[in-house]
Amino acid sequence: MVDRKYVVGNLKMAMKKDDVIQYLKRINDKIYSNQVILFPSSIYIPYFLNQYYKVGIQDVHFESIGPYTGEISPSQAKSMGVSCVLVGHSERRRYFQETDGVVNKKVLKSLSEGLSVILCVGETKEEKDLLKTDRILKKQITYDLRDVDDFRQVMIAYEPVWAIGTKVVPKNQEIQKTIQYIKDLVKQEYGYPDIKVLYGGSVDAKNIDTICQVRNLDGVLVGNSSTDAEQFLHIIEVVLGK
Ligand code: 13P
Repeated sequence: MVDRKYVVGNLKMAMKKDDVIQYLKRINDKIYSNQVILFPSSIYIPYFLNQYYKVGIQDVHFESIGPYTGEISPSQAKSMGVSCVLVGHSERRRYFQETDGVVNKKVLKSLSEGLSVILCVGETKEEKDLLKTDRILKKQITYDLRDVDDFRQVMIAYEPVWAIGTKVVPKNQEIQKTIQYIKDLVKQEYGYPDIKVLYGGSVDAKNIDTICQVRNLDGVLVGNSSTDAEQFLHIIEVVLGK
């Protein structure tokens, strides 16, 4: 199988309009790969479209249409040219009380409306200390992906909550072991042997060489460092090559 790696930038709630325009000036003629996916704030999505990289949306609602003030549906996102959605990010689970039930509904609706899905999973520090990582991941993955029938449009991002925005990164061995656990689990639970698994959490231009040595890694999900054009371009170069 061709070894396709991905570099995903989750810009979260960073940047105002002028910053976005400056940022785009710096990256747009430098990225020639559809294995790069950028997730800006929704209102800026139109600025990011029509480049070689793909554009994703940071969240969607689980209905196609309805009286949900402030929400965006997968079909609306799709109609704008968005190709991918982040679902189950730990910040959504934590600050917006998203349960696995809600995450599952978002996954199913997004897939049925033609968006590909990056499902984010990961354990908290407490769960890690109690040696519950595998159990938590199993619960999230079995619940969140329930009733999915086409795994070709799904990637999983392993983002330990304790590594997000902390500059603390697990050892390569740990990342490798957990990625393998996730791949084996998806194969065992759903019979799908080729699930792509990304790592996310404090990835930056300094540690990307090291992280890239994780053998079974299919790419990275970058938060803060993706908002810095030069760092993000460097990360892309390391992961995808020139
Ligand atoms: P940081 O790279 O800022 O740690 O964020 C990771 C993340 O949450 C990406 O979705």
